[in-house]
Amino acid sequence: MNKLEEVQTAEARLLISTYERNPLLFVSGEGVHILDENGTKYLDLLSGIGVNALGYGSSVIEEAIAKQSHKLIHTSNLYFHAGQAKLAERLTTRTSMDRAFFCNSGAEAWECALKLARAHAGLLRAEGKQIGTKFLAMDQSFHGRTFGAVATTYKEKYREPFAPVMPGVEFVTFNDIADLRAKFSNEVCAILVEAVQGEGGVRPITQEFFAAARALADSTGALLIADEIQCGTGRTGKWCAYQHYGIQPDVTTLAKPLAGGIPMGAVLCTEEVARAFHAGMHGTTFGGGPLACAVACAVIDHIEQTNLLANVTALGDYFQAQLRDLAKRHKAIVDVRGIGLIIGAELNSATLAKLVVAEMLKHNILINCTSDTVLRFLPPYILERKHVDAAIRALDEIFTEQAAVSGAAEGENRG
Ligand SMILES: Cc1ncc(COP(=O)(O)O)c(C=O)c1O
Repeated sequence: MNKLEEVQTAEARLLISTYERNPLLFVSGEGVHILDENGTKYLDLLSGIGVNALGYGSSVIEEAIAKQSHKLIHTSNLYFHAGQAKLAERLTTRTSMDRAFFCNSGAEAWECALKLARAHAGLLRAEGKQIGTKFLAMDQSFHGRTFGAVATTYKEKYREPFAPVMPGVEFVTFNDIADLRAKFSNEVCAILVEAVQGEGGVRPITQEFFAAARALADSTGALLIADEIQCGTGRTGKWCAYQHYGIQPDVTTLAKPLAGGIPMGAVLCTEEVARAFHAGMHGTTFGGGPLACAVACAVIDHIEQTNLLANVTALGDYFQAQLRDLAKRHKAIVDVRGIGLIIGAELNSATLAKLVVAEMLKHNILINCTSDTVLRFLPPYILERKHVDAAIRALDEIFTEQAAVSGAAEGENRG
């Protein structure tokens, strides 16, 4: 039994079944590459589902971990340490928000955002306003796996096994202003959007829809909440994707790359929203610990000092242009979309999309497929043109081969 088989056997016996893992056992990484137990190098265009923004083996992250871990790793939130205010300063100034709450994951940040919305509506009611408790979420949305998060996540497969989930959620057709207007009323305490839907197939929100959501929320005092867990923290070339639209939400959530791979989530909000919470209403044992805060500050400072957001924009544009070029040669690619380094290439068949992901693995390139038909690219921000070129060459080969195979099959059927 090789090492991979040993781990597979042990996991099959010991772990609660939640994942269908690819048969790869990773042991180390270097820049944009991750290495398996045999030393085989894979170009990672998924970066741990959008987490490893600085790539693997980043000395910035390693040094921040080492330095802070020698001092203090955990305190709990019963006491002060200097890290939370330092990180909150960095995040609020870059996102035009006022206040922050730190936690450990995306779903946890999202739960906090939902609780803020309900508590804020409660405050407004106490102040004499007529506002309800309902959430308007979007179709194809994804917000995580906890109960509030699955209740606001569109696909039934995430909610149905756990019913009844949190009540009071209605889904709106994403980017359909008429549907949003029809479902909005003063029963709504918050409109929930992703500026770029990630799991939903890399779908950017339209300017008009985002503006309509902002205006409707303003008309009643409801909140506009932007989930930037996948598309935020620099992935689109700005700190938050909503900054491309010039629309400011009341609350936003960050996680994934925030602390360079150390688990961390953040909720950022306006002063108005923050008054909904007082001490004791929400909390976490680990959230905003000294280690995660120190690493997150180091990641943000490094991104800024090395002008990495400009690279995200430039490489994102280049990658999309190359994919569009590829789409001209391969009719299986029906759409290319995204902003910066969150990119989707939609194919005309779910079977083909699955196959392309598997074939890319044979070319030692990691990507995945979301929303059945969309090839998704979430590469590290340190990506270079040569990496894009390698991916495009591999895709070109795969699509050419597949077209030949399906052409031959069609020929046989006709014959
Ligand atoms: C938009 C969005 N929200 C929330 C989550 C949940 O984050 P986590 O897996 O860290 O709980 C994800 C995860 O993919 C996400 O993409």
